[in-house]
Amino acid sequence: MLADKDRIFTNLYGFQPWNLDAAQKRGDWDDTKAIIARGQDAIIDEVKASGLRGRGGAGFPTGMKWSFMPKESKDGRPSFLVINADESEPGSCKDREIIRHDPHKLIEGALIAGFAMRARAAYIYIRGEYIREAETMQAAIDEAYEAGLIGKNAAKSGYDFDVFLHRGAGAYICGEETAMIESLEGKKGQPRLKPPFPAGAGLYGCPTTVNNVESIAVVPTIMRRGGAWFASFGRENNKGTKLFQISGHVEKPCVVEEAMSIPFRELIEKHCGGITGGWDNLLAVIPGGSSVPLVPAEQIMDAPMDFDGLKEVGSGLGTAAVIVMDKSTDIVRAISRISYFYKHESCGQCTPCREGTGWMWRVMERLRTGEAAVEEIDMLQQVTKQVEGHTICALGDAAAWPIQGLIKHFRPEMERRIAERESAIREAAE
Ligand code: NAI
Ligand code: SF4
Repeated sequence: MLADKDRIFTNLYGFQPWNLDAAQKRGDWDDTKAIIARGQDAIIDEVKASGLRGRGGAGFPTGMKWSFMPKESKDGRPSFLVINADESEPGSCKDREIIRHDPHKLIEGALIAGFAMRARAAYIYIRGEYIREAETMQAAIDEAYEAGLIGKNAAKSGYDFDVFLHRGAGAYICGEETAMIESLEGKKGQPRLKPPFPAGAGLYGCPTTVNNVESIAVVPTIMRRGGAWFASFGRENNKGTKLFQISGHVEKPCVVEEAMSIPFRELIEKHCGGITGGWDNLLAVIPGGSSVPLVPAEQIMDAPMDFDGLKEVGSGLGTAAVIVMDKSTDIVRAISRISYFYKHESCGQCTPCREGTGWMWRVMERLRTGEAAVEEIDMLQQVTKQVEGHTICALGDAAAWPIQGLIKHFRPEMERRIAERESAIREAAE
């Protein structure tokens, strides 16, 4: 278990105030000027050495992403950092806790990251439903400006850096990085085709890096304690500490910072008081937010909770939003509800997603009630394959994968419903 001394988010539960005074007592903004004085390349090298991979779900190496940003401005174009605080993945609620209780870690991280990638400003794009969190975030930004920590000559570093907060309006798709950029520009939030990646042409056509809240908020601690310290947690290719958000059928749902790669059973035993009704009552787990396939109980027990460990059991770490389902769960209904979510949130721009998500949800509903024919299970599987990998953004994949996981692991349950309904109809007719 991660020792208290190794926790980055020491105010995760809000036992102390979030404000600047309290944050400084916890070590935030401690000689930030000296960190900046180390220079852009040294900061990027330290983040690379830490092994930090993006905490928004995709796990792209953070230091490498920063190194894609241009060292020289072309045609006088500025560079930007966009911080993705649109946290809308069902099951995810870690960025909310950072913003509520440790907003200065995010602002200081924005300055250090922004400086490293030569960005003129950071835009924090926060989901519209996070109303109180947006108020806290703005108040923290105001405090940082007043204290001279951001703005002109930020933290007396000689570097000018602004931080702006932008509120979303409730569209899940605006969490996709290029849809977020469109939305920031005042347009309808619809994803762009990649490439070009944002580092080449992002906000207002300028070089841009989009990073998740957690990825940025850990940067000041990495710089103070060293990349090697961060990399000492977890295992090769899966390093650092990580915020896990555990919900569903556990005794004590929580958000907790742990070492990457902690086995599933240990995570639940140590922090959640076990599964409701005991371990024998566990049915399945969605380990990384609704976009990743479920894993049945017997396969998840000893799985290391990291990018590779969960890939090996056919799923993914995603945002580390661990949704636990016990045997009281109607698993077909649960996945059908997720299908409805993706149908509702599809931006409608590309046909396989716009039509496919609605189609998949309708078949899922027929399977839920047992009204579908048994051949429709294979047909549904084929449709998920037509959607997966054939859309502009990852929402199409995210809609297809949970269904594929259901068919792979719970096909007998789907067939049982169909058979039960057919026999009930036969009995009624006799
Ligand atoms: P992606 O793999 O396309 O990209 C990840 C990041 O790496 C992006 O910033 C992208 O610009 C960069 N990148 C990838 N290849 C690159 C290249 N060749 N050159 C330069 N940059 C490159 O994944 P995407 O679509 O950004 O994210 C999907 C993930 O988001 C899913 O795994 C899901 O778990 C997660 N997600 C998180 C949500 C949340 O609430 N935090 C909501 C929905 C999805
Ligand atoms: Fe929009 Fe779906 Fe296409 Fe993404 S995959 S661009 S959400 S229609």
